Amino acid sequence: MIVYFNGQYLKLEEVKISPFDRGFQYADGVYEVIRTYFGKLFRYADHLERLKDSLRETRINYTRTGELEECIYKLFELNKFTSPNISVYIQITRGEYFPRKHSFPPGEVNPTVFISTFPIEDEIAAFEKGIKVILEKDIRWSKCNIKSISLLPNVLSNQRAVEEGAEEAIWLRDGKLLEGSHTNFWGIKNNEVWTAPLSNFILPGVSRKVIFEICSNMGINVLEQAISENEINQFNEFFITGTTTEIKPVGFIGNVQIGDGLPGINTKKIYYAFLEYINRRIWD
Ligand code: PDD
Repeated sequence: MIVYFNGQYLKLEEVKISPFDRGFQYADGVYEVIRTYFGKLFRYADHLERLKDSLRETRINYTRTGELEECIYKLFELNKFTSPNISVYIQITRGEYFPRKHSFPPGEVNPTVFISTFPIEDEIAAFEKGIKVILEKDIRWSKCNIKSISLLPNVLSNQRAVEEGAEEAIWLRDGKLLEGSHTNFWGIKNNEVWTAPLSNFILPGVSRKVIFEICSNMGINVLEQAISENEINQFNEFFITGTTTEIKPVGFIGNVQIGDGLPGINTKKIYYAFLEYINRRIWD
């Protein structure tokens, strides 16, 4: 596997990251996950914008974001991928500094930049049945809009989900269902789609933005309103969205079955409109 590391294209085994890298010691870094359809980066401009927001919020001084797109396509070429579906992981940390000290390193330190790419499976089959999600208390900080590499709460909550035979953990804060450990969360009642409003408590998902556009084109109303735990039974359908997850219908919340446990009619409509949008290849 060829990866990008600090300006170079290297075999994965050739990458050397210092144990004094601030990403390793403090999770002092940010990341993005992007994917392709038909070999073309999906909604790259949105991902780049979010990456720049994350860098600005964390005050990581990396100014060469304009070069990343070219680096990614170069990686596709070097890896000789044949699959049209490729996932891209970009991580930028504040860089290496010794001795260890919480405050920013004094003077100029180059951020550490790493990009890996790998082919992904087509998820279409996964749409045939509803997935299980569990509810978890949101134990994260109050800057969840930053795509920080500090993902321990996400790891712990998702592991709990897996141990309970579920795919995703949906976080509850003050009784409201906000988002999942790696996805945004949606409910549908009376043909209206609900999702938590943008705030410092959720990640502004790129797929979330796409769903808003698709629903608007379909004449479906989307309410930016978080669903309360005690309102769950008023909803007929739920689904989750994310870059690699795409759209997945929810069949169970904990042990409570949603409808017949299969993808709901409105979720299906949105999913087919999403596929059509992708197939038209006009997303940027
Ligand atoms: N996860 N919420 C959280 C907490 C996320 O980590 C993600 C993305 C999303 C969905 O965002 P988007 O639609 O832009 O992918 C929502 C990525 C894919 C990950 O961590 O692998």
